[in-house]
Amino acid sequence: MLNIVWSQAFRIGVRGIDESHADHLDFLNLITTLIRAKEDTSVILSQVERLYLDLESHHQDEDRLMIDLGYPELTAHQAVHTFLLDELKVLARHFVQGNDASAMLRAASTMGHLLLDHIIRHDLAILTFMQGRGLTETRLSMVD
Ligand SMILES: [Fe+2]
Ligand SMILES: [Fe+2]
Repeated sequence: MLNIVWSQAFRIGVRGIDESHADHLDFLNLITTLIRAKEDTSVILSQVERLYLDLESHHQDEDRLMIDLGYPELTAHQAVHTFLLDELKVLARHFVQGNDASAMLRAASTMGHLLLDHIIRHDLAILTFMQGRGLTETRLSMVD
């Protein structure tokens, strides 16, 4: 089972962003549980769609944060967001086709790893930037 657990090590220190990241991992763990429980494909697919929509709005929040910060890697980070959503769309085809539980489990696992990789490699870079500027969590309330 995927069961990726949220860790304080993933925190970028902006509550709205961190809560959203934790929600995304919860979504994937729920999706994995539903697949294993042989839940109806439409139920599983609706959770995948919710995750996708939540991720879109999360990326808008991150965009706003990066713009407010004057983050120099904004354009590159946005390009990775586009890539991430495209990859999720491709993986979501396994859920539309349904019935193949092992393919759905692999797709959910790949989604989880992609999201976690993005948090660790790209979102945490925003924290490094903020720390370099001496910005504290209390001054970063725009997306809380
Ligand atoms: Fe993120
Ligand atoms: Fe991001």
